[in-house]
Amino acid sequence: MTKRSIILGCGSYLPERIVSNAELAETVDTSDEWIVERTGIKQRHIAAEGQYTSDLALKAAERALAHAGVDAKDIDMVIVATTTPDNTFPATATKVQHNLGMVNGAAFDVQAVCSGFIYALSIADNMIKGGQAENIVVIGAETFSRILDWEDRTTCVLFGDGAGAVVLQAANGADPASQPGGSADLGDNRGRGILSTHLHSDGSTRDLLYVDGGPSSTQTVGHVRMVGKEVFRHAVTNLAGIVHETLDANGLSPADIDWVVPHQANKRILDGTARKLKLPIERMVVTVDRHANTSAASIPLALDEAVKDGRIQRGDLVLMEAMGGGLTWGSALVRW
Ligand code: COA
Repeated sequence: MTKRSIILGCGSYLPERIVSNAELAETVDTSDEWIVERTGIKQRHIAAEGQYTSDLALKAAERALAHAGVDAKDIDMVIVATTTPDNTFPATATKVQHNLGMVNGAAFDVQAVCSGFIYALSIADNMIKGGQAENIVVIGAETFSRILDWEDRTTCVLFGDGAGAVVLQAANGADPASQPGGSADLGDNRGRGILSTHLHSDGSTRDLLYVDGGPSSTQTVGHVRMVGKEVFRHAVTNLAGIVHETLDANGLSPADIDWVVPHQANKRILDGTARKLKLPIERMVVTVDRHANTSAASIPLALDEAVKDGRIQRGDLVLMEAMGGGLTWGSALVRW
């Protein structure tokens, strides 16, 4: 029987502490005006001391499971996309698995920086299609505040902490795209599901955005370093490219998309991508002003917000896209 994956529920969590641009300007040579004008960011959430990536991930996962109406004991895979794991090993996902009370299944991390959630979603979708799992929790979770150089104004103002999660469930039947209207046996899940995912990377650009430390190289954690202008240039080109690739693969045009849920790095990147696609900015879910760049967490955080406030409705065509260090980039098209 052909399988496909449905996103059954979502959830997210943001640490309590909010740091405004004005507060940052007290310790680093910057201003609210500069940050808002160049990035659209007004504030970010920062994890409390002793609050780890796994803690944020757990809260997001619990909320996603509640929203999906699925019990943790029925989950057979936990995938955490993160660049800021609690420890070098074991995988943060194993801690989340344990804290969810699961003793079965498999748990592992995925590392593709800001594209991590899309990579993890793609892996999960293929696990379900391949019959290797029935219910998967896919989480994007980060404490980027721990790898920032708080004296480097060119990077420290851009990022925040947070987590988001979705619950994927296997459904019988082919991709909904190939079944207009669905078939009767799909019941409540008629027409829903992940239509396609697309992944790319180009390691020749790895020096544009990286961390200057690591277990094998410096035996330190290191800090985020970035050639901002170059990353910006690649972002708009790569993101517009991946959107076209995704739409072409499904025989669709930008006008067919109900919602774009993009990785939230910079409001100007979102505006530039929307312009290139001739897509009204109103159809993009924007959270970068309040969350800043939460790396792998940004898409599931934005998705959860738009689902819970009723913007994303059953049957909507939702396109998620991201680019991050590597460079990596990718997309996922979903019939909600
Ligand atoms: N506050 C005040 N001034 C700042 C600053 C800050 N936080 N950060 C940089 N500046 C200064 C620079 O030092 C530079 O000063 P100079 O002209 O005297 O040398 C000036 O602002 C312009 O810097 P520049 O780097 O050219 O600005 P920009 O318009 O390229 O904007 C970014 C910088 C980082 C906002 C922009 O390049 C960007 O968003 N890049 C993509 C980043 C990204 O999204 N990364 C994650 C991808 S997942």
